[in-house]
Amino acid sequence: MFESLKKAPIDKIFQLLGEFRADEREDKIDLGIGVFKDKNKHTPIMSAVKKAEKQVFDNETTKTYVGVSGNRGFCDSISDLVFGESVDKSRIRAVQAPGGTGSIWVLLQLINRARPNGKIWVSDPSWPNHWPMCELSGLEPNFYPYFDHKTGKVKFDEMMECLDALGPQDTVLLHACCHNPTGANLTNEQWDIVAKSLKRTGAFPFIDSAYLGFGEGLEEDAYGLRKLASELPEMMLAFSASKNFGLYRERVGVAFCIAKNPEQADIAFSQMGNIVRASFSQPPDHGAEIVRVILADPELRAEWEAELEDMREFIVHIREKLADAIRERSNSSNFDFVAEHQGMFSLLGLSKEQVGILKKENAIYMLDDSRISIAGIPEDEIGRMADAIVGVLR
Ligand code: LMR
Repeated sequence: MFESLKKAPIDKIFQLLGEFRADEREDKIDLGIGVFKDKNKHTPIMSAVKKAEKQVFDNETTKTYVGVSGNRGFCDSISDLVFGESVDKSRIRAVQAPGGTGSIWVLLQLINRARPNGKIWVSDPSWPNHWPMCELSGLEPNFYPYFDHKTGKVKFDEMMECLDALGPQDTVLLHACCHNPTGANLTNEQWDIVAKSLKRTGAFPFIDSAYLGFGEGLEEDAYGLRKLASELPEMMLAFSASKNFGLYRERVGVAFCIAKNPEQADIAFSQMGNIVRASFSQPPDHGAEIVRVILADPELRAEWEAELEDMREFIVHIREKLADAIRERSNSSNFDFVAEHQGMFSLLGLSKEQVGILKKENAIYMLDDSRISIAGIPEDEIGRMADAIVGVLR
């Protein structure tokens, strides 16, 4: 059986995590995988999550199946959180899926059913799992220009030149906010232009929302997705609760379809359920029920929002400190973009060799394209990090 196969490539994010865990140096710093870490380099359980989890344990009386489309109260509350009043609920349908990735999977399968072997456009660069997931789903991934490595900003004119030339058979994958891996995001005015372009070309929008609340705030970060939802006849969105509820390993996500009318929404819903059943039968309930409890209880919800805001502010603070520390040491403003970026990541623009030196000599781990997880930087190590980064640039 297996003699016909070659070893498959390991996902670079998890390969790096394995190397980091095996490194015995005490001063090692993990800037690889996108997880939030506190002062003690620990990823804590949010206190609202801990309290809701206790309620779930105390109140749960059965472990029988929930159903193919998952926890309905959870899906409805995420729908309200994400879309607000931007679109008539009669056109939205949702199924729960294992994490943001499981949600992307369900939606990619659905695209391939509607448009077999169709073209899907992803930003250059994008989250490293987008491209392989598109391929595995039978779609043909292509890049649209996105990030200018020289300026650290979005190449918006080039991006729009590409998007403006698409047609109704194309799908465009957009990051809702906090672009992964670059940290460079569209402004509200740019989202308006994207919405206009998609309306004119008929290209289909697919939004990946994994970091809602980490950029400027929950409402602010939803501007672009709500703009598209309110103006376009159809859309898909994959939501992840991994980061904003800190539920990483519980795999909590939702796959949303917005259709032209309730009849087509029902068809999309039946197709999503059919894909879920054939892929993993049903999603896991535990994390979703925790989120449902939090969002349904005003006190827990306020506590969760405050904790999320603390994480967001901490990231902004670390960004500013790191940019200052590099500026002081290098006498240049070349890395000021770190403070302007939003969300968990920034792409530093270092070479693979420089990234390798930082790992070998300084025990600083980042992805080989020099993506750093800002949420993983220990505040008291910023000086050492800036010394090391400026050191490899010399
Ligand atoms: C990341 O990009 O580091 C996170 O989204 C974790 C993952 O699953 O890749």
